[in-house]
Amino acid sequence: MNIFHIVGARPNFMKVAPVLGALRAHLGIVQTVIHTGQHYDPNMSDVFFEQLGIPPPDVNLAVGSGTHARQTAEIMTRFEPLIAERKPDLVLVYGDVNSTVAAALVCAKLGVRVGHVEAGLRSGDRTMPEEINRLVTDQLSDLLFTPSEDADINLQREGILPEKIFRVGNVMIDSLVKLLPVARQQEQTGLPGSYALVTLHRPANVDNSAVLKSILSSLLEVNQDLAVIFPAHPRTRARIAEFGLDANQLRILEPQPYINFLALQCRAKVVITDSGGIQEETTYLGIPCLTLRENTERPVTVSQGTNVLVGQNSSMLRSELSRVLGGGAKRGSVPPMWDGRTGERIANIISGVNGSPR
Ligand code: UD1
Repeated sequence: MNIFHIVGARPNFMKVAPVLGALRAHLGIVQTVIHTGQHYDPNMSDVFFEQLGIPPPDVNLAVGSGTHARQTAEIMTRFEPLIAERKPDLVLVYGDVNSTVAAALVCAKLGVRVGHVEAGLRSGDRTMPEEINRLVTDQLSDLLFTPSEDADINLQREGILPEKIFRVGNVMIDSLVKLLPVARQQEQTGLPGSYALVTLHRPANVDNSAVLKSILSSLLEVNQDLAVIFPAHPRTRARIAEFGLDANQLRILEPQPYINFLALQCRAKVVITDSGGIQEETTYLGIPCLTLRENTERPVTVSQGTNVLVGQNSSMLRSELSRVLGGGAKRGSVPPMWDGRTGERIANIISGVNGSPR
């Protein structure tokens, strides 16, 4: 059986690693890793391959950045000939980025089976490019691997047949479980004992100068009580410079490698973010998370975990932060099947161990 893994952007490298590793234990499976090149800076890509033990990609489509249409089209154009040439039996796509939907579209048109890892997540907000990618990818997929019950319900509501849906748990947590001991060992020099860790990159938060200015001024305020450590996405850094905004008081770092970021996360007093995956990682770690979004496609992090949605409401951010500083942070629990064995469950299903697919 010939399986392709499609990756391209930072949030999915930690999802492919556990599946790739678990499939190695099954005989007769040949795996090919294809990097679309959506993320190309070494600290957004290469360093993740090294730390997560993913072999260098067999193919790099090197598409680079562009508008959504251009980037998606470029991935499709460069990916299509590979299917004809190498004839995979199954193509695995991950998460919700442009690389995910582009590959799924190519495969669906060529009649190649698609497996979507992290299927069924919905924010209900179609202004988010990722929501469009999720909806389309799930409609085109043959095997839908979901992390939680809400995802199964979303898929069934959209008419996906129950026999295509496999609840397997949260694959990203597999990488966290594996590398947390290494992260905890990592020494941190030059950091304050107590800090807020911040990430910010959603277009809705960083592409408009008034919105970004208001978020930064809230962060400057936070910084008066608790040092702010802010590994900045290249897009965010570029916007801060372009809009001439003041962020000098914050400790702005380069995007961090996976283990280094985990080390920062597990010692943070609080995490302030607009990322999807970080909402899940903080829930697993039991660290309070204040999310700068109005909605989330990962509702279990709010209902069971440590996540609170504060949107762009600076007074809510302030009050939630004082709650954390006052020792009254929300306590959560780890959702079911966030146990480090999701990759194994996916591999068993794919290879037909339980009498299913292959
Ligand atoms: C993408 C995903 C988003 C994910 C995020 C994590 C989509 C629609 N969005 O957003 O879901 O949360 O990755 O990082 O797929 N850039 C660099 N170097 C790089 C990559 C990007 O400088 O290696 C800059 C470029 O200016 C580029 C911009 O970042 O134009 C945006 O990159 P892009 O891949 O389009 O989207 P992200 O914002 O990274």
